[in-house]
Amino acid sequence: MIIAVDGPLASGKGTIARQLAQCYTLPYLDTGLLYRACALGLLRAGKNPENPVAAQQSAMSVDGRSLTDPELRSALVGAAASKVAAIPAVRKALIKLQRDFARQKGGAVLDGRDIGTVICPHADVKLWVSAPPEERARRRCKELCDRGEDISYTQMLAQLVERDARDASRDDAPMLRAADAHLLNTDGLSIDAAFAVARRIVDAAKAELS
Ligand code: C5P
Repeated sequence: MIIAVDGPLASGKGTIARQLAQCYTLPYLDTGLLYRACALGLLRAGKNPENPVAAQQSAMSVDGRSLTDPELRSALVGAAASKVAAIPAVRKALIKLQRDFARQKGGAVLDGRDIGTVICPHADVKLWVSAPPEERARRRCKELCDRGEDISYTQMLAQLVERDARDASRDDAPMLRAADAHLLNTDGLSIDAAFAVARRIVDAAKAELS
């Protein structure tokens, strides 16, 4: 079973996708980390994340098995990741890795922005996880502050709105809800409650498959 979980920044998609993977014993890939790894490689080399040639080279050297550097999760790397993700050659360089991951025997859970639309358009079940920008900014601000990053709510909200707009407006594989994705609004839901909704959706899809 392939489960595609998409949605904007700090919508809760990562937590839900991880929990689904655990629940159904499936391998899990956070595809945002691939774009983040590409961006981090460029930043460390002192290169501009908007340089298509350098970004493509960096994307081609991303190793999907070593995505554990804590720096990958920083706000700076996230913003640069959204810039490299708008470069078609970068997306192209990362497609095979994601599709191979999805094609594993037994299936997989992948989260991102274009899993249900581009990477796995034939996924068995698709979720679009969302929440209002203010709620998402509050969550991400807390997460970054807990990690020791100093960022105000106002700065976070501005960054998030800018990132959403860039991700949704790029020409290649924009952030988009697939027509057949189930909408899961996590606003006001606890992590457990959001997961319970996701699980009901996946169980129903599983029952239809069998
Ligand atoms: O989800 P995360 O914040 O880690 O993603 C970082 C950036 O990577 C996103 O803002 C988006 O531009 C890009 N991304 C993407 N497609 C994906 C996953 C992430 O374009 N499937």
